[in-house]
Amino acid sequence: MKKNRTIAILTGGGDCPGINAAIRGVAKKAILKYGARIIGFEDGYHGLVRNRYRELDYDTVSGILTLGGTILGTSKTANPYKYATRKGDALEFPDVSDTALRNFRETGAECLVCIGGDGTMAVASRLSRDGIPIIGIPKTIDNDLRGTDVTFGFDSAVWIATEGIDRLHSTADSHQRVMIVEVMGNTAGWLALHSGVAGGADVILIPEIPYDSDRVADAVLARRKMGRRFSIIAISEGSRPVGGDIVVKRMVQESFDPIRFGGIGFVLGREIEEKTSISTRTVVLGHLQRGGTPTPYDRVLATGLGTRAVDLIERGEFGCMVAVKGNGLGEVSLEEVAQGPRTVPADHPLIQTARDVGTSFGD
Ligand code: F6P
Repeated sequence: MKKNRTIAILTGGGDCPGINAAIRGVAKKAILKYGARIIGFEDGYHGLVRNRYRELDYDTVSGILTLGGTILGTSKTANPYKYATRKGDALEFPDVSDTALRNFRETGAECLVCIGGDGTMAVASRLSRDGIPIIGIPKTIDNDLRGTDVTFGFDSAVWIATEGIDRLHSTADSHQRVMIVEVMGNTAGWLALHSGVAGGADVILIPEIPYDSDRVADAVLARRKMGRRFSIIAISEGSRPVGGDIVVKRMVQESFDPIRFGGIGFVLGREIEEKTSISTRTVVLGHLQRGGTPTPYDRVLATGLGTRAVDLIERGEFGCMVAVKGNGLGEVSLEEVAQGPRTVPADHPLIQTARDVGTSFGD
């Protein structure tokens, strides 16, 4: 990387713990090693379209390692190729990518670092084809990005969901209840699977394994027979019964991922109470899972990926996303990442581990 060059950063999609640590990783390394000028586009791709950006000097990125959210703001709806625009009561989606490309060029930046999930990377992949030198950095609590073994934000969300499950044990025990914990994860079951195993859930339900509520009720009744006073069920928001459907809380037409899940835990709760006659309650953890300070693991990972991105810039390798590969870091093409979410494979070892300790998947 030549001296005195400009690097632009933006953060897109749902926020998660660790984004600021990644911004800091990119900015500190590029400033310290190359004296680079860093600018940050605001509110995801909105900033690129509306030409809103600010300087990120060394002081700005100091002290943000432990901060949740993103200092740049983010958006789950801003897409330069389908830019949601209100015309009276109607929503239109014009392609304003030319404006985004022009705005980027006018900053004089040599590249754009996009920190985001699958929606952000899909747009990044198109912008890259259209001529912007881009490096992606993977983040999401859902852990569902292709090409990387893990994303930062996930570990923090697993901690929060596990803490939720832990706390429900005592109240479930006191009241001899079934407690259902609905966790996020979108169309992937990573969060429910990991927090369910970590929290010792008796039943784990994930989108990849459609459940039969009779089997879930059997598991609850079998525990009762063994003298257990309660059962805990961790259910992923995107789960569905065999032959049934997902529960959609609402549709957000202008979003990268228009389906907002929410409520499958209540549907299951009613069925389980009916089938077992055991008092059942449902808790939806929701956006709590995206908030607060990142775990040490996520801080380390985000810092590693951020600094790795600067290595790629130095080598002039664009059109790719930095990634976790086994015990090390690598990179993957944005085109591969844009091919859709990475769900839990049926033969994932953690599913077997859970089954080995008696966990039911409702199948
Ligand atoms: O992708 C992250 C995520 O938190 C998903 O787990 C969840 O389905 C979705 O975003 C919620 O979106 P919103 O913040 O728009 O409610």
